[in-house]
Parts: sequence; C-alpha cells; structure tokens
Amino acid sequence: MSNKSFLGKSIVSIRDLTKEDLDTILEEAERMESIVNSGKRPLEGKIMAALFLEPSTRTRLSFEAAMHRLGGAVITVSDPKSSSAAKGESLSDTIRTIANYCDIIAMRHPMEGSARLAAEFSSVPIINGGSGAEEHPTQALLDLYTLKKELKIVEGKRIAMVGDLKYGRTVHSLAYTLSKFKKVKIDFVSPPSLRIGEEIKSDLRDAGNEFTEGGSLMEIVPTADAIYMTRIQKERFAQESEYAKVKYAYVLNKKLLEKAKGPIPILHPLPRLNEIAYDVDDTVHAVYFRQIFNGVIVRMALLNLILGGKV
Ligand code: CP
Repeated sequence: MSNKSFLGKSIVSIRDLTKEDLDTILEEAERMESIVNSGKRPLEGKIMAALFLEPSTRTRLSFEAAMHRLGGAVITVSDPKSSSAAKGESLSDTIRTIANYCDIIAMRHPMEGSARLAAEFSSVPIINGGSGAEEHPTQALLDLYTLKKELKIVEGKRIAMVGDLKYGRTVHSLAYTLSKFKKVKIDFVSPPSLRIGEEIKSDLRDAGNEFTEGGSLMEIVPTADAIYMTRIQKERFAQESEYAKVKYAYVLNKKLLEKAKGPIPILHPLPRLNEIAYDVDDTVHAVYFRQIFNGVIVRMALLNLILGGKV
C-alpha cells in the first residue's frame, strides 16, 4: 500500500501488510515524532471509537492519546460489562452500531478472528488492538519501530524472543513481521509447553530466516542483538496448575545482562510480572519504557494514514 492506499483500510492482521507497507508506516511514524507536541490537528472533526472487550492499559490509552494528539475525538467502551455485549449482543451487531458513531474503530476482543469478522461488518475501518491469542498487529508495528530506532538496522540482527511463545499474540505478530527482514535470526526461548507454532516457523523457513528453539537465557544473552521478553499469561491456561509449573521459567536480571555483548535493548510489550527483574530498569538495556511512547507515535501514524490527515 502506498500512503494513499492506506486510506479507509482496516488493519486486521500483520499478514495483510507488505514490506513496502511496513516501510510506509515506519516513515509516517518518524514524521509523527515532530508532530506529537506541535499542536497541529490533522484529524480535527474525526471520531475514533475504542471498543475494548478485554483488559488493556497501553493499547487503549495509546490509541486514545494518539487520536487526541492529532486533534480528533474519542468515544470508548473500556469495560465489557458496560456494553450491550454483556446482554448477549453479537459482535457483528455491536460493530454495525458503533460504526454509526465514528470514523474508525480500534478494538480488542478475546476471540480469535474477531477483528476480521468486525471488518466484514463495519462501514468504517477497523484496527485490531488484539484478537485472542492470535494477533496484535499494532504492537508488532511499534515493536518494529522500537527495534529500528534502537538498532538502526534490523536486517542481519539476532533477536531472542522469550516467554509464552504459544499464546503470546505479540510474539506471533512480531515474528511474522521480522520474517520480512533479510537475515534476521530469531532465538525462541520458552518452556516446552509454550513453544512457538508451526505456522510461524514455516513463515521463517519460507523467507529464508534462521531460527533456534529451546535455548536458555544464559545461552542467548551473550549472542543477542536485542531480547524481546514476554509474560507467561495466566489467563490463557485452562488449569492454574499448568500455569504454576512455568510462571517463573525465565527471569532476566542485571547480573545475567553482564554477559551481553553490549548495551543491547530489552523490549517487552508489557505488562510485566516477574520476567524482567526491577534491577534492569535503571540500566541502558531498559528500552521497554521508551517502547511505550513509541506506541503513541505508531498509532498516530496509522490513524493519520487511514483517515487521510494532512500535515
Ligand atoms: N502491550 C499491550 O497490549 O498492553 P495492554 O494489554 O496494556 O494494552
């Protein structure tokens, strides 16, 4: 998609975006860095609905902040119990309704395929802010933007992804995104029960990207150019006993990072539990806080491209 062809389009899956699309979004995000505090209002008169039927802090608030920064207005459902979904309304009816009130819908839903379904029924563009354990495309875009800012060049880098690789929707979207970059090597580190799915591995093989599986934090810290940590997600386990077996599987701390080859960036989509020790927060590695701000920038870029803001 060129700038022009993002107009009016939904962002449902990272798989719908080409390498050229990714480059366009990254370029627009760079432009947004200079606009964020400029007082310019390219989306004045536009309304974004945030429909979040699963908990969120960063995704919903950064979408809302992005729309406000661009001069647009926001309407929100942040508590599933406060919407008529709690009365049993179908997602398709909810979407058809909300589309009457706004110009674009950013949504999160616990069901896989929910964003695709919403896009089919919506008369306004849908942006997927997380669909079950499946995908989180805007997180992948802000992760990519962060890696690009921190590493300068993504091609040829060795990136470790650690934690819940089975249910981690951010991992699924980011691993696919990285398959678009030549010679990126990924080290997948997870408990055996939370390994990355075959589809992603197949994508990487098809794209000619190398990957490893099953290593430990001790092994990957010295070789990584960047580490993407993720939370073991209690809410995705049917049995709490299964979660208990793996919840402390990986804890990255300052001592372990002494073995790193340099000031390598540590990313995390957040929220974190115990997988990054608090003693990492005051080191050069703690990029996860800068990553949060990049979420606003990248979501500004998407909203502006889709709604055709002129700046
Ligand atoms: N990264 C992320 O999706 O965070 P939230 O769940 O707080 O939106």
